[in-house]
Amino acid sequence: MNDIKLKILEVTKRRGFYWKSYEIYGGLGGFYDYGPLGASLKDNILQLWKDYFVTKEGFLLLDSPNIGPELLYIASGHAEKFTDYMVKCKKCGHVFRADELLKGHVDNPEKLDAEGLWKNIKEKGIKCPDCGGELTYPEKFHLMFSTRVGMDKNAFLRPETAQGIFINFPIFYRLNREKLPLGVAQIGKGFRNEISPRQGLLRLREFNMAEIEVFIDPQEKFLLGDVRNISLPLLTREGKEYRITVEQAVKMGILSEPMAYFMGKIIIFLEKIGIDIKKVRFRQHSREELAHYSRDTWDCEVLLSYGWVEIIGIADRGDYDLKRHMEYSGKDLRAFRRFKSPKKRKIKRLRARMEILGPLFKNDARKIAEILENMEYEGGNIEILLEDRKIKIPKNAYEVVEIEESVGGERFIPQVIEPSFGIDRILYAILEHSYYERKDSGYKVLKLKPRVAPIKAGIFPLVSKEPLTTKALEILKIIRDSGVSCYYDDSGSIGRRYARADEIGVPFCVTVDYTTEKDNTVTIRERDSTLQKRVRISELPEILELLSDEKINFESLDENV
Ligand code: GLY
Repeated sequence: MNDIKLKILEVTKRRGFYWKSYEIYGGLGGFYDYGPLGASLKDNILQLWKDYFVTKEGFLLLDSPNIGPELLYIASGHAEKFTDYMVKCKKCGHVFRADELLKGHVDNPEKLDAEGLWKNIKEKGIKCPDCGGELTYPEKFHLMFSTRVGMDKNAFLRPETAQGIFINFPIFYRLNREKLPLGVAQIGKGFRNEISPRQGLLRLREFNMAEIEVFIDPQEKFLLGDVRNISLPLLTREGKEYRITVEQAVKMGILSEPMAYFMGKIIIFLEKIGIDIKKVRFRQHSREELAHYSRDTWDCEVLLSYGWVEIIGIADRGDYDLKRHMEYSGKDLRAFRRFKSPKKRKIKRLRARMEILGPLFKNDARKIAEILENMEYEGGNIEILLEDRKIKIPKNAYEVVEIEESVGGERFIPQVIEPSFGIDRILYAILEHSYYERKDSGYKVLKLKPRVAPIKAGIFPLVSKEPLTTKALEILKIIRDSGVSCYYDDSGSIGRRYARADEIGVPFCVTVDYTTEKDNTVTIRERDSTLQKRVRISELPEILELLSDEKINFESLDENV
């Protein structure tokens, strides 16, 4: 069993990181349970993500519902455009994503349309991977899960958390004192009815996302700050490879400032959480591959045993989403740009004619007149929104007058940059990049970073005998009370216990031995070096906390006994 994905599968299932959901009922493809270790690992990744991308950036958090009304997803474009092509085996009836079957046979199969997919399936002789049967012509398959709210309201499970952010833009803009750039982040579940998902955590139908929508005024300079010298591995849609700094990528016109900025941040973050950044690249989408809302997208991909896998997408969504939601909701989702000094400009205003509005709209006439007189006339027929009712205003109910006004600023639709993180894929990538086998013993090790590791310390008596066991249990309680996650193990040899800790990535093991009784000290063993240092029990809680938070490293720890 040399394949790393099989090894990871074996360890993660046996040790309770994650497993296929609903197995006692035969399973349900694309759904996974996270067990104790996986759930903690995921929480730790998300905590680091929040610290780095929300707290440090001064961004705002949102927690909005998973279910959204149909109109929201008609407005977002997902109801129409969120599809993949599927093919079916004429013999066994199994279905497959057409582009997945062509991976390894053609470059970027995701950019092909039905005809292109079909041509390649024929030319390359692609057959059903399960039984070798003939495949059907590719058909569009809708990826959103639909549901119903109450008896009759059609709704969808969100395919991305982003839409919750867009529709709440005016609230966040106000909360941010009407300042841009404004970043809003959301962590939560996304749902996609993937065609035949078969790649474990890499393709789930219910998955964990962490997304940021950064609202930008394109007329304001976006600062590169402390990431300007970070090196980016880039692969453009023309197939050109670069390894250049964030600043160079902007100067060469390959990336805009905000796109480059977040790519720099992503490199730092991935290194922090234990991804091998030598196996990371940013690949620009071809034009055909772009999502319906995107002007430009770069996938952050990692090299895994499955090949290059997207773990983060960085999309330039322009003003697409806010504009669409303005059209469909009739609400103003614009920001305001103040001029350096007021400008004189001619604008068209409306004068309401009450003699027409009065008889026509009765009690509503005053309110309608007020709305009309506060509007700037941009031509065409007028339809206004009054308490959620759309009302058409006849042409004879107002006059258009041109006046010169001194204006302090103007309304505009912000541009949006979106870094969107697939947390399950990141978690899996960390496992693959952390896995190794010891040269001497062949024992498995996950070299998880202390901050990411689900359990920070194992507490062991050297042998399972009194008074060592009681002392070790006392230490376990002290360490747990200090807030560091740890466990007790006294079964089997100390070597076996270290090995069991290593394979789930426990970075430190504390051992109570016969010296402990004499001088109240214990050893701390570090997982990767297997070196041990002796420390006082009185100092142990603080030392483990500092080591787990990566505020000190094991090498620099003094044996202060
Ligand atoms: N919001 C990005 C995505 O759905 O992939």
